[in-house]
Amino acid sequence: MNIVYLNNEFLPADQACVPVLDRGFIFGDGVYEVIPAYGGKLFRLGEHLQRLQNSLSAVRIPNPLSHAGWGTMLNELIAQNEGDEQSLYLQVTRGSAQRDHAMPDDPVPTVFAMSNPLHPVSQHIREHGVAAITLDDIRWQRCHIKAISLLPNILLRQEALDQNAAEAILIRDGFATEGAASNLFIVSDGMLATPPTGPFLLPGITRDLILELANANNIPHCEKNISRDELHNADEIWLTSSTKEILPVTCLDDTPVANGQPGPLFQRMLALYQDYKQQLRDQ
Ligand code: PDD
Repeated sequence: MNIVYLNNEFLPADQACVPVLDRGFIFGDGVYEVIPAYGGKLFRLGEHLQRLQNSLSAVRIPNPLSHAGWGTMLNELIAQNEGDEQSLYLQVTRGSAQRDHAMPDDPVPTVFAMSNPLHPVSQHIREHGVAAITLDDIRWQRCHIKAISLLPNILLRQEALDQNAAEAILIRDGFATEGAASNLFIVSDGMLATPPTGPFLLPGITRDLILELANANNIPHCEKNISRDELHNADEIWLTSSTKEILPVTCLDDTPVANGQPGPLFQRMLALYQDYKQQLRDQ
């Protein structure tokens, strides 16, 4: 049985209970993070905790733990669960209150965290890539907040799965924003590009690392709006996230991307990413 963390306690998952009036349950009123751990070491913890702080501030929930407190709790959770590669999920909700849209005056946030096994992307996918479809971005105008209310993302991802694709790439006003649960990169004429951060996409931690690695390795890159046409004409398309790292998209809307195989820049970036992970393990 997995050990989870709930409000200062570590306990088996089936014994962890939250009151039905928790605003996370009633309204989806909360924020979350997903942080990988490799060889017991948390990946880019500082960056994840900064994004958590940004999300909490944006929705006016007080941060229930200090930076050190989050680190200690998450490390304890890693130790109490098995697996060399774990995915740590944490969420903070505005806590329990009588149902009312207005925020309670003195919220007592509910803090929950769990560890799930982090399954590496299969060799088959690394070699052949995945299919994606484009869909209208039906989400709200605060997509930079990592909110637990994910109904639009769920509908979009499921629509992709129903069409035998792994992910939906979302289009807002003619421009690609990101995937339903991933960030977007394209390669065109040797230039790696990703949409700029702002209210319409999540500032992914993996996204930032890829830009950093591109910078450090003299790979031409930029942040720019990507039109639907540029997306469809790209030489390479990648999706990035903490759990999937970098996924090459080799088929978009039933049409092969370039020659239908993962591209050379993907291979190079994947190797740089794996080196970076290894350095963390060796620290
Ligand atoms: N999702 N965009 C969206 C909408 C996401 O949900 C995610 C990640 C990303 C990538 O962010 P990062 O690189 O920090 O993981 C971008 C997580 C993994 C999830 O919801 O499970």
